Amino acid sequence: MKRILPLILCIIPAFAVAEPASNMVWMPETLNFVKDGNIKKGEQLAQSCAGCHGEKGISPMGMFPSLAGQTANYTYKQLRDYADGKRENPMMSSIAAGLSEQDSADLAAWFQSLPAAQNKASQEDLSKAISLVDKGNGKKILPPCFVCHESSGKGQKMDTPALAGQQAEYTEATLLEYKNGTRHNDLYSRMRVIAKQLSDAEIKQLAKYYQQLK
Ligand code: HEC
Ligand code: HEC
Repeated sequence: MKRILPLILCIIPAFAVAEPASNMVWMPETLNFVKDGNIKKGEQLAQSCAGCHGEKGISPMGMFPSLAGQTANYTYKQLRDYADGKRENPMMSSIAAGLSEQDSADLAAWFQSLPAAQNKASQEDLSKAISLVDKGNGKKILPPCFVCHESSGKGQKMDTPALAGQQAEYTEATLLEYKNGTRHNDLYSRMRVIAKQLSDAEIKQLAKYYQQLK
């Protein structure tokens, strides 16, 4: 990562003139604010989310992402991005616009406290996905997914989401959206740059791989 940083810093000025990907700035105050989210209040607020995301944050349908076990910073950022119009979705945009920053932090704390979905191991050949996760692709400057999302697929506290147990249908759809630019709320274009280099078949296999990862 140390060697990549100067490269990223060179790219930023080119993006600086355009709209920022997200209004989120990870200052210590923001990190502490999210860390102090109230799980109990989040649980109450989450009753209105259960129809789509499940009672315990494990969604009943492939098109709805599971939220259980997701890192709080990531969930908080997504809710604020929807509210700010930085990530758009006909179902989520208006819901998030009705949440305060405090509500968002409380919901993020609640979902982080729940155990992630555990799905059956896949019988399919997922070797292409495993190679991308573990090794990336040197010919394409494609870093391995594990560098940021961890080998466990549990993500990193700062702002990298957990992917393990996620609905494959959702993961595939969101990667295709990064690829075609419809989803553009990733800071420094990290995921858009990566998704553009993945074939649709690779995306499908990666989504299946992460769904069954425990
Ligand atoms: C009517 C169904 C519906 C309801 C109710 C709903 N959501 Fe969603 N939610 C969705 C859909 C669909 C997506 C995927 C949208 C996309 O692809 O951008 C989503 C995405 C999200 C995401 C992004 C997940 C990720 O992995 O990036 C978060 C966070 C979220 N919802 C939180 C909530 C919270 C909190 C509530 C309740 C206050 C809620 N949602 C209520 C349908 C719903
Ligand atoms: C340089 C670090 C980095 C690498 C490498 C990386 N990611 Fe990500 N990824 C991120 C960050 C940061 C986000 C959150 C972006 C945001 O805030 O919207 C993310 C978001 C995602 C999401 C959206 C999750 C959700 O719930 O909506 C998926 C899916 C994803 N990455 C898959 C992958 C896959 C598959 C690979 C490997 C081919 C990969 N990532 C490699 C940093 C990385």
